[in-house]
Amino acid sequence: MIIQQIHSNKKQHLDLLLLADESEEMIDKYLHKGDLFALYDGDLKSVCVVTSIDNQTCELKNIATHPQYQGKGYGSALIKYVSELYKNKYKYMLVGTGEVPSILAFYESFGFKESHRIKNFFTDNYPHPMFEGDIQLVDMIYLKKNL
Ligand SMILES: CC(C)(COP(=O)(O)OP(=O)(O)OC[C@H]1O[C@@H](n2cnc3c(N)ncnc32)[C@H](O)[C@@H]1OP(=O)(O)O)[C@@H](O)C(=O)NCCC(=O)NCCS
Repeated sequence: MIIQQIHSNKKQHLDLLLLADESEEMIDKYLHKGDLFALYDGDLKSVCVVTSIDNQTCELKNIATHPQYQGKGYGSALIKYVSELYKNKYKYMLVGTGEVPSILAFYESFGFKESHRIKNFFTDNYPHPMFEGDIQLVDMIYLKKNL
């Protein structure tokens, strides 16, 4: 398994990034200034994007694994990799997500804890109702991890 930072043509991975964030417009707002990482195990399995918020805090903006390879540890490997990589530069890592128990549990297993929420983020910012399985996304929950 190898993890590489991608410096050029970051939109080559748009298909994967859209799994975690269905709005290309939103992705365009952070992809150019963010650090994009790709995990390969043979072929490409997962990507993630980390941006800088201020000199203490970075944010995991997007993480996605190809659907047929989910649940095999690739997403966890990426989170561990970026947590190690950024711990000398930042004190905290933030991640924002909808209120989906399986995804909240995924982040909490790496030490992320709920920090704050933006009420009605998904209903206010997307042109149609957003669902993850049966769960409608309403508030954005921010979780924070001490690096
Ligand atoms: C969330 C995601 C990035 C996890 O990546 P992954 O490679 O499947 O992660 P891992 O295999 O390391 O870990 C999977 C863990 O996440 C949990 N999980 C959360 N959502 C999941 C999903 N849709 N599919 C599989 N596992 C999921 C599982 O419970 C599993 O926990 P376990 O190891 O205790 O069984 C991946 O499922 C994905 O790409 N989902 C769609 C995009 C998305 O929702 N991104 C997050 C936006 S906030």
